[in-house]
Amino acid sequence: MADNGKREQWNSRWGLILAMAGNAIGLGNFLRFPVQAAENGGGAYMIPYFVSLLVLGVPLMWIEWGIGRYGGSLGHGTTPGMFDALWKNRAAKYVGILGIFLPLVVLVYYIYICSWTLAFSIFSLFGSYPHPEAGVQALSTAAYLAPYQRYLGDYIGQTTSGAIMSPTPLAYLFFIITLGMGMWILGKGVSKGIEILNKIAIPLLFVFGLVLFVRVLSMSSPTNPDYTAQAGLSFLWEPNLTGLFSAKTWLAAAGQVFFTLSLGMGAIVTYASYMKKDDDIALSGLTAASLNEFAEVIIGSTIALTAAVIFFGLDGARDISHGGAFKLGFISMPAIFTHISYGQFFGFLWFMLLFFAGITSVVALAQPAIAFLEDELGWSRKRSVIALAVFFFGSAHLPMLVSGALDEMDFWAGTFGLVVLAFFEVMIFFWIFGSSNAWEEMQRGAQIKIPKFFFYIMKYVTPVFIAAILMAWTYEQLPGVLAKGDGGIWITRGFLALLLLVHLWLVRVAWKRRRL
Ligand code: ALA
Repeated sequence: MADNGKREQWNSRWGLILAMAGNAIGLGNFLRFPVQAAENGGGAYMIPYFVSLLVLGVPLMWIEWGIGRYGGSLGHGTTPGMFDALWKNRAAKYVGILGIFLPLVVLVYYIYICSWTLAFSIFSLFGSYPHPEAGVQALSTAAYLAPYQRYLGDYIGQTTSGAIMSPTPLAYLFFIITLGMGMWILGKGVSKGIEILNKIAIPLLFVFGLVLFVRVLSMSSPTNPDYTAQAGLSFLWEPNLTGLFSAKTWLAAAGQVFFTLSLGMGAIVTYASYMKKDDDIALSGLTAASLNEFAEVIIGSTIALTAAVIFFGLDGARDISHGGAFKLGFISMPAIFTHISYGQFFGFLWFMLLFFAGITSVVALAQPAIAFLEDELGWSRKRSVIALAVFFFGSAHLPMLVSGALDEMDFWAGTFGLVVLAFFEVMIFFWIFGSSNAWEEMQRGAQIKIPKFFFYIMKYVTPVFIAAILMAWTYEQLPGVLAKGDGGIWITRGFLALLLLVHLWLVRVAWKRRRL
């Protein structure tokens, strides 16, 4: 809410586009994407990825901008109010809870990971990574990476016995600094906080990304002359049609498109709610999505994965990706930087790039909760931000201390939940509000004409595709996830259930007060 009691608005069109780009560009672009691509066969993954981008990513982007701008014009910044306005049904506002719940849950672990990037950028600058005597030539990939693995493990307090972790005071300190920075920016508001952050951080992120991109492509291998940048690039780009026939590859690709564009997270609709009624959606939405894809497919896919191929060969890079995004970003990259000239500086750039990507997504994912408290409960911005800071400070202890909690939350909120919310969005907007109303809403003020075939894609292909993903997930992954059930997992599930109940209650309170 602005000081005059009115809803805030973006200051400029570029401010909005950069904020939306910052919303989308995140750790997902630089860590999750290369790992997903490598894990799903490199080139085999790219065709399902681009098809998903075309029939899910871009259409849903426009849909979310359309829903958001419409809701904002009625004073609603989150999906409970937006769905209620689009669908005259008592259930609408309860379904809309997902648009606040999901980004909150993602943030509970995301802020903590974002704080590692800040810490590692400083460690890099001061040269505090391990400096093993033996060079990469003398050791296997696993042996070479071992000290770096221990370094990260010690920092986050991983224990061999599993269950409870004990992060170092430094990890705790960086978490508090990151949380404090995020909340400080949010406290300044949409145009004076979020917009300014993105106007600074996103251009810098691209500069850092391009510098690293060029540096990696000009690296030569210390171990084997056959491990070239070209080998790394062809691993990802050599067309391979096998992925077209693998349900697993399609699920991974579609899931990545959701995560990277922040779709189904409630964050895009909230940002779009601060647009003016006739602001352009078509071109701005496409520009923000294109910036995200450039950051992901060109820069994000190249830096960490190609560097790993150059240093460790294809098999080594595959092993690293198999170890997950943290292994690629926080173990393999420091190991590489220790061994190149000016590595401290490039390491700093890498982690600063990740930090900018992360912090711009942190504020985007937190804004829905703030918008809900302001718009639907009438709280002041200050009070909303303080409440949220207390919530994150408390709840982040779960992924910090309980091993397995992070993956459990990432599955329910960062993987499954997004698709569920996106399904409701497209059904409510295109099938309940009406396809011609929805189409008209998205085109109003448009600076380019959205090609008509997207109308049919949005109406038929996108919902069917999402339904198919949901069914495939339910069938393929849900039994495996539900079968896991140690103490930490059950505590996490209990936390999620409780949080959902609190959301239900708050929506009911808002409804009783006739704000919804
Ligand atoms: N879209 C954000 C990311 O890619 C959440 O990290």
